[in-house]
Amino acid sequence: MEQKVIWVTGASTGIGKEIANAFSKAGHIVAVSARRKSRLVKIVSEIKFADREASAFVCNVMSERSIQSTAKRIMEKYGRIDCLINNAGSTVFKSFTDTKSFDYDMVLNTNLRGAFLCIKSVLPQMIKKKKGHIINVLSVAANTAFENSAVYSASKAGLLALSNCLREEVRRYNIKISNILPGAVETAMWESKARQRYKNRMMQPEDIGKIVYDIYNQPKRVLIEDVIVRPLKGDI
Ligand SMILES: NC(=O)c1ccc[n+]([C@@H]2O[C@H](COP(=O)([O-])OP(=O)(O)OC[C@H]3O[C@@H](n4cnc5c(N)ncnc54)[C@H](OP(=O)(O)O)[C@@H]3O)[C@@H](O)[C@H]2O)c1
Repeated sequence: MEQKVIWVTGASTGIGKEIANAFSKAGHIVAVSARRKSRLVKIVSEIKFADREASAFVCNVMSERSIQSTAKRIMEKYGRIDCLINNAGSTVFKSFTDTKSFDYDMVLNTNLRGAFLCIKSVLPQMIKKKKGHIINVLSVAANTAFENSAVYSASKAGLLALSNCLREEVRRYNIKISNILPGAVETAMWESKARQRYKNRMMQPEDIGKIVYDIYNQPKRVLIEDVIVRPLKGDI
């Protein structure tokens, strides 16, 4: 198997951490990024303890400078980025009336602008090499209406539209663009009350990690474009 360099954003907890673990277990090099350094360091030391290669990079996807310097540092260390997984995300569960412009800026700047800038930071070297894969962790909220989720839905629907257009521009360079749209997963994104109440109904972060790896692990000629994955009992 050819070892690839995989950059996972928002990998300090939850789904991102399990995506990193799934790629690492498959033998790839993982570059994990997020804002909380101590959590990243712990994840990397666990991976290294199992004799696999990983590195931690503190990166705030709300900052263009932070993204550019992270991409540069990963490329300096490993020579390339074969796959970017745009997983960093935040949300506010608020009615439209209660949603402030601060909430809008935080959610859109993390989920949509942050992913846009991460893609821009890796795409030129992928185009040059005529290969690469970008996987976006969206949400069923990208195409399903839920109360108290207007700005979150807008951010995920925006990234879905962006990546659908991007896909058509980069097919000619053998670059794959994939989206995964998960339903409820038991992570810190949910308030503890909801987590406790629906724990048995929600998917687990490692379920999504395995599916993201399967999206990646396909023959060169195959592109999995969009995957929708829900808890068996449906949305919460
Ligand atoms: N849980 C669900 O039900 C569900 C369903 C569908 C999709 N998703 C999506 O899955 C992704 C991961 O969420 P999760 O459920 O695993 O929740 P989580 O455990 O809260 O993870 C969110 C991750 O994003 C990172 N992050 C947040 N803001 C960031 C910023 N400005 N810069 C860099 N990293 C940032 C966090 O790290 P730091 O705080 O350390 O920066 C953390 O690692 C998100 O995109 C979310 O929208 C979740």
